[in-house]
Amino acid sequence: MAAGRSFLLLPLFLLTLSFSPACLPNSEDDALLQLKRSFAPSSSLSSWIPNSSACSARWLGVYCTNNLVVGLHLSNMALSGTIDVDALLRLPGLRSIGFVNNSFSGPIPQFNKLTALKALFLTTNQFSGPIPPDFFASLAAIKKIGLSGNNFSGDIPNSLARLPLLVELRLDDNGFSGAIPSFTQHFRSFNVSNNRLEGPIPDELASFGGTSFSGNPGLCGKVVGKECEEEARQQGATSGEKRTGLVRAVITVIMVSIVVMLIIVLIKTARRQEGNRNMGGIGVRKDGGGEEVVQVHVPSSNHSRTSGSTKKGSNSVSKRNAVGDLVMVNEEKGVFGLPDLMKAAAEVLGNGGMGSAYKATMSNGLSVVVKRMREINKISRDSFDAEMRQFGRIRHPNILAPLSYHYRKEEKLIVSQYIPKGSLLYVLHGDRGTCHGDLHWPTRLKIVKGIARGLSFLHSEFGSHDLPHGNLKSSNVLLSDAYEPLLTDFAFHPLINPSSAPQALFSYKTPDYIQYQQVSRKTDVYCLGTIILEIMTGKFPSQYHSNGKGGTDVVQWVLTAIAEGREAELIDPDIKTNDTESLSHMLQLLQIGASCTESNPQQRLNLGEAIRRIEEVQV
Ligand SMILES: *[C@@H]1O[C@H](CO)[C@@H](O)[C@H](O)[C@H]1NC(C)=O
Repeated sequence: MAAGRSFLLLPLFLLTLSFSPACLPNSEDDALLQLKRSFAPSSSLSSWIPNSSACSARWLGVYCTNNLVVGLHLSNMALSGTIDVDALLRLPGLRSIGFVNNSFSGPIPQFNKLTALKALFLTTNQFSGPIPPDFFASLAAIKKIGLSGNNFSGDIPNSLARLPLLVELRLDDNGFSGAIPSFTQHFRSFNVSNNRLEGPIPDELASFGGTSFSGNPGLCGKVVGKECEEEARQQGATSGEKRTGLVRAVITVIMVSIVVMLIIVLIKTARRQEGNRNMGGIGVRKDGGGEEVVQVHVPSSNHSRTSGSTKKGSNSVSKRNAVGDLVMVNEEKGVFGLPDLMKAAAEVLGNGGMGSAYKATMSNGLSVVVKRMREINKISRDSFDAEMRQFGRIRHPNILAPLSYHYRKEEKLIVSQYIPKGSLLYVLHGDRGTCHGDLHWPTRLKIVKGIARGLSFLHSEFGSHDLPHGNLKSSNVLLSDAYEPLLTDFAFHPLINPSSAPQALFSYKTPDYIQYQQVSRKTDVYCLGTIILEIMTGKFPSQYHSNGKGGTDVVQWVLTAIAEGREAELIDPDIKTNDTESLSHMLQLLQIGASCTESNPQQRLNLGEAIRRIEEVQV
């Protein structure tokens, strides 16, 4: 009877297994609990409890990406006992570990089994004894090692000198003895002070300054103000000469590459300037985070000369079209036609992914932005009209809806109100003038909340669109005089040539398209996250450049810093504060930005959840 029952239950159990993996005990959570058991009993890890999930329940010190544990940083927790490295081996995504400022003692645990490790911090514990010379040989991916403030002794392991990616090595405040190995890496941070090291300080390390070597009476070299003995000096000289040769070769290669790059840039600039001259441009200035702004002066009195100084396409527009050809979709700012635009004083604002934008100030004083939509070509007049009328009906405090448009097969213009303060991109990264100074924390939070509200509105207004916004980035967020954000350039996805979309829309520069070849409504969440990280760090995201060069990869930077428990360092120094409460709210918002930029769309917050969490953040 009982056997029969379990026979029936088995297929059911298997079904459960295959369809709801989330309900199974997660082996990563299990591994962490195994690790916890190896520590001496402590109340610090009270959040680590069975039947909860390390990643979703956010166990203290555990950092996840896509629900995979990638970082473990247990700092200042008075932990002692052993560290079960075999438990850590069960965390395949683990790249960064830290046990900073605890009470672990004994020989160094076998962290060298974790061969994918990128960072290891054991700073300020009581680890002791020598470390075998080849201990680090298996850690080929490691970039940062911190062993400061322990009682390690014996030689500095030679294997450290052969780690190709190592950029940070802190061995200060230990009992290491013997000579400093011949390191060949280009360290960003290096410190061996307060040990018992002897012999000459290698030339290429001297640049770190005396404080990196002090407290080692046996060390010699200019940098510690102590001449080395003759023999040691000559040895240093020969190996130094060899290295100087190498350094020279490297410098030559770098110089040649720089010259080649310069030439390429010059050629490109020259070509672009030629293009601008064709548009009547007379000056180019770099501005606002690399956006190019071209000032064009168009004589406003003479109609035909006006046409003559704009591009060919516009020429034919202006000559052939009558007033009626500008279709008003929103008359709140008044009614105007193409001739009013043609007579206006005009200025080229810049070239975006979708076309160029002009500012026109009409004789009635109204300033508008006219966008020539280069990439909208394959759409019928009816669909375009319908789309524009829907745009025109939009009324939301965080959306800048178009006022009018012009449609011809070969020319599409969209006209909207000109916003004097300019874009968030410009105010954040531009001339750092007075406006940037106004961007204190409450203002930044207000901007983020406004963007989130505008985006939420677009998601309901364009409920059936794959990409309700599709092009959310700081250059498409304008700021009102009161710093209320206004979203522009939204919902163009259905209007755009599919072949041009990857160039025209920021959505196509996200992991959704690059890694998963599919944009979706979640892609807007990623773009929102990027803006949040941009606002909180004050850094220009490299994501905005089509070639990924220049700017900061804010997504990766934030991820790494959070994994290493250094998130406070991310906050833009201009808003950084000693007020711990404000700081915790800033970090809360930063964390939301990080969750929104989760690279796997499935693991990413959905917009509703993101907005709910953003609204919870207090000044
Ligand atoms: C090196 O470490 C010592 C001791 O921890 C510290 O006093 C010194 O400032 C450090 N120097 C550098 C350049 O980091």
